[in-house]
Amino acid sequence: MRMRTGIASLAIQLPSRVLDVRDLATLRGIDPDKFTKGLGCGEIALCSDDENVVTLAAGAAKRAIARWGGDVKDIGLVVVGSETAQDMSRPLSAFMAEAIGLEGAYRSYETKHACYGGTVALRQALEWRASGAARGKAALVVASDVALYAPKDPGEPTQGAGAVAFVVEEPTVASVDLESYAWSEPVFDFWRPVGESFPRVDGPLSLDCYNRGALRCFQQLADARFGGDLEATFEHFAASCFHVPFPKMVKKAVRHIGEQAGWDEATTARLYGTKVDPTMGWNRQVGNSYTAALWMSVASVLAGADEGTELAAFSYGSGFGTELLTLRAGPAAKEGAWAAEFEADVADRERIDASTYEAWRTVRPVAAE
Ligand code: COA
Repeated sequence: MRMRTGIASLAIQLPSRVLDVRDLATLRGIDPDKFTKGLGCGEIALCSDDENVVTLAAGAAKRAIARWGGDVKDIGLVVVGSETAQDMSRPLSAFMAEAIGLEGAYRSYETKHACYGGTVALRQALEWRASGAARGKAALVVASDVALYAPKDPGEPTQGAGAVAFVVEEPTVASVDLESYAWSEPVFDFWRPVGESFPRVDGPLSLDCYNRGALRCFQQLADARFGGDLEATFEHFAASCFHVPFPKMVKKAVRHIGEQAGWDEATTARLYGTKVDPTMGWNRQVGNSYTAALWMSVASVLAGADEGTELAAFSYGSGFGTELLTLRAGPAAKEGAWAAEFEADVADRERIDASTYEAWRTVRPVAAE
C-alpha cells in the first residue's frame, strides 16, 4: 500500500527591503525597459543588515511548524537546500536549528546543487517517508537563499532573496507524485568557487542548459503519461511552474519546447500565457531566490487552488541538474494561509532608493554575511 505523503504545511519568509528594478536601471544608466520588458523582472527583495540566509530559513521554518500544529518531537529529518553557504563544513540546517531552538532525534543536513538544492531536499524527504524509514515521522525541509551578484554585473537586476519551508507529512496542502523526471549534465554554467562572494556565470550556456533540461524532463513526462504529446502534457496541468532566474528565461524555455514539439506560434503563446506566465507573479515581486524560486511559484499556484488541482514543477540547478515533479492540491490549498503571510511581508517591506542600495552594496558587498 502506498503511504500517504506530501506537503502538510507550507510557509514563506521574505526579507524586509525591496528595490524596484527600474531604479536600479536608472542608477546603472540602462534603459529600464531592458530589465522590465527584456528580462521580465519587477522587484528585488533585499536583506537588511540583520537578515541573512539563516534568518530567512528560520522565519519560514517557524511559520511552517506553527501552521502544521504538530509536535516538533515528531520531526525526524531537517534539511536545508541552499547555495548561500555559511560554512564549508557546518550545515545550514544546524544554523537554522540553533535559531529556532530545535534539537532531538532527527537527521540534519544541507543539500547543494545550485537552485536545484531545495528540490533535492524535498524529494529526499518524500522518499524517506515513502520508504518507511521515517516510521511515520515528519520532515522539515527549507529552501533558502540570498541571490546577490557583483555590483554592475549583468545579473544584478535578477537578484532577490527568500525562503520557502515545508513540513512533509500528510498531504493536506499537496500530494507529490513519487514518480519524477530528472536530467543532469556536468557543465560549468554558473558556479561560485570557494572563497569567492559572487557567482561566475556563462549566461548563454546557462540558458541553453536550462532549455535542454526543461525539454528532456517534460518529454519524459509526456512519454510516460501522455503518449509523448507535449501539448497534451501542458494542457493537462492547471499550471506548469518553473524555476525562475528571471521570467524571460522561462518564456524562452517554453518557446524552445514548442519549437522542438512543432507547435505554431499561437499554441506556444496560448500555453505560455495561460499555464506558465500566471505562475510568476510572486517571483516578479521577489526576484531570483535561487532554491526557493520554483517553490514561490508553486506556493502562489497552490494558494486558493481547488482540491485535486494538478500542477507540474520544473526545477533547474546550474551545474546542471533538473527534475520535473507533479503535484496535486490538497484540502488546505483552498485556504492558502501562506498567501496572507506573503502579502503581509510584501506590504511591510521598506522600499529603498537607488542611492541607498548603492551605499549598502559598498559597505556590505558580500552575499553570505
Ligand atoms: N528594451 C527592451 N528589451 C531590451 C532592451 C530595451 N531597451 N535592451 C535589451 N533588451 C532585451 C534584449 O533584447 C534581451 O532580450 P532577448 O533575450 O529576448 O533577446 C534581453 O533584454 C536581455 O538583454 P541581454 O543583452 O541579453 O542581457 P545581458 O547580456 O545584460 O545579460 C542576463 C543579462 C540576466 C541575461 C545574463 O546576465 C544572464 O544570463 N545571467 C544569468 C542567468 C542565470 O541566472 N543563470 C542561472 C540559472 S539558475
